[in-house]
Amino acid sequence: MGGLSKKATLLQELAPPAAALKIDAGTLFFDDAFTGQPERLAQALITAGALVEAYNHMGYDTVALGHHDLAAGEAALKSLAAQADFPFLSANLADMEGSLLFEPVAHVERAGMRITLIGLTGGPQTAAFAGWAKILPWQEVLPPLLARHSAASDLIILLSNLPASDNRAIAEKMADIHLIIQSGSSKQNMRPQLINNTLISQVGHDGKYQGQLTVEWPASRRWQAQERPILALQKEYDRLGWMLDKIAKKGGAEVVYKENKAAYQAFQQKEERHRQLAAEIAKMATADKKEHPPAATYTNHFHPLHPSLADDVTISKLLQRARKKANQVQRAGAAPNRDSQYLGSRACGSCHEAIYLAWDKTPHATAYQTLVAQDQNHNPNCVYCHVTGLAEENAHLGAALPESLQGVGCEACHGPGRNHRATAGLVPLPLKPAPSLCTSCHSAERDDNFNYQLDKGKVHGP
Ligand code: HEC
Ligand code: HEC
Ligand code: HEC
Ligand code: HEC
Repeated sequence: MGGLSKKATLLQELAPPAAALKIDAGTLFFDDAFTGQPERLAQALITAGALVEAYNHMGYDTVALGHHDLAAGEAALKSLAAQADFPFLSANLADMEGSLLFEPVAHVERAGMRITLIGLTGGPQTAAFAGWAKILPWQEVLPPLLARHSAASDLIILLSNLPASDNRAIAEKMADIHLIIQSGSSKQNMRPQLINNTLISQVGHDGKYQGQLTVEWPASRRWQAQERPILALQKEYDRLGWMLDKIAKKGGAEVVYKENKAAYQAFQQKEERHRQLAAEIAKMATADKKEHPPAATYTNHFHPLHPSLADDVTISKLLQRARKKANQVQRAGAAPNRDSQYLGSRACGSCHEAIYLAWDKTPHATAYQTLVAQDQNHNPNCVYCHVTGLAEENAHLGAALPESLQGVGCEACHGPGRNHRATAGLVPLPLKPAPSLCTSCHSAERDDNFNYQLDKGKVHGP
């Protein structure tokens, strides 16, 4: 979500605001289920509310609903839709009776074109979601929609949360859908791919990029020039012409085929065919120009939401407000303390004083304070890497962590020390810090220039 304030700045820099269409293909709001985790749900709803506000501010045209967007339930999703200045789209998300829950399509006019946007939600087809929604198969939903809207639309865009294989199948069957922006499972950006008359593209999932597709869309409504009969004739004409030239250069057919009557006759037939072709091509040229207007062109960019981009002030503020609110919810729901094998770093210091004093000056010692400063110290998506003895699975216990385990302490690397201390060091610590331990926190995503050999010397201070 941190990238949003940069995204807003980028959008302002990139787009000629009047012509640009701002769309999101789904899985914007949630990326997980919340069963049995009321604090996480509450936090996710606060975040989702901030996202709607931010998308309002950026002037989005529409957002399609992905499978994960159902995670918070019907009431929550409807209430988010009510806050949005743009429609939530899904042409196949229905209630248990089969009536659609959201708008199936949106119509937008840009640059004198009538654009129709269709949303499709992914997930197991026809399976029920927690008893309130089901996904209708695209095979049923799309044909009647296209029949209704194709004629009146210059350009049809499908925002699809379906798996890539379904999107390909749609492209193969339905040339009326000109563009598919997919929001399936892929984390990677996907360059546009042309299948039949449909361009398919996807921006990676992690919010690190902003996709920009610039399209020159002609009246032909085609990405590729259609089969033109004139081209085949021209090819044959050129090939024959090249052959005839070759013979001419060797002194002419009379000389070359002096000894071979059959070959000479064949040559004459080729000359005749060459003349015929010239006449046919001339005849077809006018019609060809009329029937085959130029095909569409596009350019595609994935712009990284680089840290050097300025933050949009409005969005920064609303995100900050949301973070504060979410942090308070987390604190209110903090789980009770647990019976711990961990002692905290100070306890190690009583026997390893020099190492303790040196460690205490490293950023690891103050990693929790870093989160406090950002109002993120109760956020289960953050704490487990900024404290000692938590894993992602039990991240929700972070709020109840004793002060001695705040920060990346000795035991984050050496393992819990209760037995080691009780035996004054006789029971060795179970963990010898390995590179994989470091990279469980210093993941490529968080620290792309982590180097074990260089960095391990810094863990006990300079
Ligand atoms: C009561 C004193 C005492 C305390 C408290 C103590 N250690 Fe030790 N530690 C020792 C002694 C003594 C050794 C040396 C053991 C040896 O050489 O076999 C040692 C060795 C180690 C080693 C070297 C590798 C190994 O396992 O032998 C590590 C790492 C270590 N301690 C980490 C810690 C950490 C982390 C803590 C806090 C959780 C801690 N120690 C608390 C006394 C202590
Ligand atoms: C439990 C998670 C965790 C583990 C395990 C961990 N780190 Fe860190 N590390 C952090 C966090 C969080 C910070 C940033 C602290 C801050 O600035 O608030 C950090 C900062 C650092 C820094 C200082 C910042 C920098 O990039 O120069 C170094 C060096 C470092 N870690 C090295 C290591 C090494 C080497 C290991 C493995 C032996 C390791 N870390 C294991 C979480 C971890
Ligand atoms: C997978 C482990 C992990 C998670 C989860 C994590 N961090 Fe960190 N964080 C790190 C590591 C490792 C560093 C040190 C990176 C470096 O030195 O380049 C760090 C550094 C930081 C820093 C200081 C350096 C900087 O880049 O400004 C801040 C602030 C920070 N994290 C905030 C957060 C917040 C907020 C969250 C939750 C939204 C979070 N972290 C979640 C591992 C993590
Ligand atoms: C970020 C990870 C990390 C933290 C935090 C950390 N250590 Fe270590 N420690 C290491 C690594 C890596 C080594 C070196 C292992 C090697 O070279 O094989 C090591 C080695 C040691 C050793 C044995 C070698 C030596 O230098 O004497 C002791 C004892 C030790 N650590 C104690 C501690 C204590 C006590 C603390 C807390 C005050 C602490 N460590 C904090 C990663 C860490």
